[in-house]
Amino acid sequence: MKVLVTGSNGQLGMSIKKLAPAFKDFNFEYTDVEELDITNYDDINKFIAETKPDAIINCAAYTAVDKAEEEPDKALLLNVTASGLLAKATSENNILLIHISTDFIFNDVSKNPIKEDEKPEPQSVYAKTKADGEQEIIKNSKRAVIFRTSWLYSEFGHNFVKTILRLTKERPEINVVDDQIGTPTYATDLAETILKLLPELIKLPQGTEILHYSNEETASWYDFAKEIVEQSGLDCKVKPISTEQYPLPAKRPAYSVLDKSKIKTKYGIEIPDWKESLGRSLGVLNKM
Ligand SMILES: NC(=O)c1ccc[n+]([C@@H]2O[C@H](COP(=O)([O-])OP(=O)(O)OC[C@H]3O[C@@H](n4cnc5c(N)ncnc54)[C@H](OP(=O)(O)O)[C@@H]3O)[C@@H](O)[C@H]2O)c1
Repeated sequence: MKVLVTGSNGQLGMSIKKLAPAFKDFNFEYTDVEELDITNYDDINKFIAETKPDAIINCAAYTAVDKAEEEPDKALLLNVTASGLLAKATSENNILLIHISTDFIFNDVSKNPIKEDEKPEPQSVYAKTKADGEQEIIKNSKRAVIFRTSWLYSEFGHNFVKTILRLTKERPEINVVDDQIGTPTYATDLAETILKLLPELIKLPQGTEILHYSNEETASWYDFAKEIVEQSGLDCKVKPISTEQYPLPAKRPAYSVLDKSKIKTKYGIEIPDWKESLGRSLGVLNKM
């Protein structure tokens, strides 16, 4: 079976590339914007005709949450329009589309883990484009799976873990918000789950399946930063502050913990605790 990965130079794409050699039943083809610009319908169709994939894993997205407030058109083109184009092209060719979305589409005030069927209530341009992108997939796909994940980090690209490691080496003290609750997710764990589920998902006869995946347990960004510092043995004080004290252009949900019961019970996926996964990722990062 052939699997085409788009946006493969990003965090999730690189994590898939790292693990793929162990998944020998699949042949992977990796593309990023240079090889396949997913905003161009002719390019998508040409690529599909040439490579004939059985599945496409779309790791490409506009992910600059704050910058999206200044350039909504760019976020819309990549997160909404391109999702629709991929959905149409895969449907016309009976290809399974695997797409990634985010916990940021929610604004839950009940403080209960969020299930797949909860109504999105996006609070920022990025979140709105991701929520609308999901709708494009649902509307235009014959066979698709949407994985919603949260607070993704990895040894690749830019992310919170790398930022904290850099800041703590430069400063004796850092301030981090403690009133936004979610779950950090190691991109390697998500990539492994997607690859493990591929043989099953490829059998999906029709419709769009939504699955929530993040690591287990919850944290504030302050908890996350403190754990990074402690596990790395760094000498830096982490101080909790409120979102009000650290205003950013894009509004974030105060609580966005995904409920993972569906992926665990229906597909038997075991999910590591975020602290354990962080330890594994720091082990990799420290060797780089
Ligand atoms: N990062 C998070 O915290 C987070 C949390 C929840 C959900 N997610 C979702 O998870 C998915 C993967 O996120 P990620 O952090 O791995 O993203 P990422 O690191 O930003 O990677 C996205 C990749 O897509 C590429 N790309 C940009 N425009 C493209 C185009 N027109 N055609 C093809 N590729 C293009 C980017 O290239 P350039 O770098 O050159 O632009 C980049 O290599 C996304 O759908 C994201 O919304 C992310």
